[in-house]
Amino acid sequence: MRTKTSLVCSVLAGFTALAALAATPVRAADTIKIGLIVPVTGPFSYMGRQITAGVSLYLAEHGATVAGKTVEILLKDDAGLPDNSRRLAQELVVNDKVAVLAGFGLTPQAFSSASIATQSKTPMVVMQAATSSVTEKSPFIVRTSMTLPQVTGGVAEWAYKNKITRVVTLVSDFAPGIDAEKSFKDHLTANGGQILAALRMPMITADFAPYLQRVMDAKPEAVFVFLPAGSSAAVFMKQFSERGLGKAGIRLLGTGDIVDDDVLNDMGDAALGTITSHHYSAAHPSAMNKKFVEAIGKAQNGMRPNFMAVAGYDGMHVIMEGLKATRGAGGEALVNAMKGQIFESPRGQVLIDAQTRDIVQDVYLRKVERLNGKLYNVEFDVEKFVKDPGKSR
Ligand code: PHB
Repeated sequence: MRTKTSLVCSVLAGFTALAALAATPVRAADTIKIGLIVPVTGPFSYMGRQITAGVSLYLAEHGATVAGKTVEILLKDDAGLPDNSRRLAQELVVNDKVAVLAGFGLTPQAFSSASIATQSKTPMVVMQAATSSVTEKSPFIVRTSMTLPQVTGGVAEWAYKNKITRVVTLVSDFAPGIDAEKSFKDHLTANGGQILAALRMPMITADFAPYLQRVMDAKPEAVFVFLPAGSSAAVFMKQFSERGLGKAGIRLLGTGDIVDDDVLNDMGDAALGTITSHHYSAAHPSAMNKKFVEAIGKAQNGMRPNFMAVAGYDGMHVIMEGLKATRGAGGEALVNAMKGQIFESPRGQVLIDAQTRDIVQDVYLRKVERLNGKLYNVEFDVEKFVKDPGKSR
């Protein structure tokens, strides 16, 4: 007998549900280990908080037993650094003999770890990193989050349908930002629109003033923005408002990352009316989502789930259903058992595409509105079952 001590939750209050799962002693032969690599510390720690909240809730609701074995989550903090993710993935595979690698908040983390999954034939469930090409980096990668081209088309279409044709794009200068920039440009220009300037900013930016000034100078009808969800999105929104872009008649458009549910209420009135397209809103009006939002709030001190919590929850679904089908076996059999899964998620119906191993899902157009005193992304249109368009490029 040995006690499950490898769940590294010491750092954090928000990770209590996972810690509770670690409390019961279980024989090693009776466990299936899952290595969950996310940023728990550092500027992207909110990703770890959201993803683990989703993972914990799934296990709390469905139990941590499959094929007569107990699933053990080994939570590892990569602090958002790709070298750490790769080292942790290697250790989890070699020393801990995990059946699955999961998590991966940022694209560089997923990129750095992909070859470990391939070499060791370990399924790798990407629960957040959203550059289109992530799933092409290993045949063992399955993704439950989204891709930037998948969620950008909707808002680009909304723009030209609403006669917005002169746009500046402003994106974080790393892979998902470049994906979003290209996708928005392709849609708009194919429909007669014009990109007046394509601006890029460092991935971590606190002062948006120089970029916002360049947007002002270009005198567009709208600016399309992608930056990593979380606190920098809230800072951006504040500066966009303070610098008077809205008053100058420049509309703010983006993917849902800029109006992330986790920080939306910190943005205040500045966010009202913002139009975005994305695959998940905490306000999605389904019975399953209402239950999900309530349960996350209850388990996590009132936290509102965002798209990362949903991807963690659905990622666990894909893993547990896969393990059920393989009777606990891992490797290629497990990846194959994840392909083609179709199920109801808090975001709506989703499918793991058997060819690409990427998620197919509904993408919604949403507008920020105040409901019962709180800000929400209220869905007003939907494109059903969108595949990642990035794969055909
Ligand atoms: C990514 O690194 O792929 C990424 C990060 C933050 C987001 C979306 C995508 O909000």
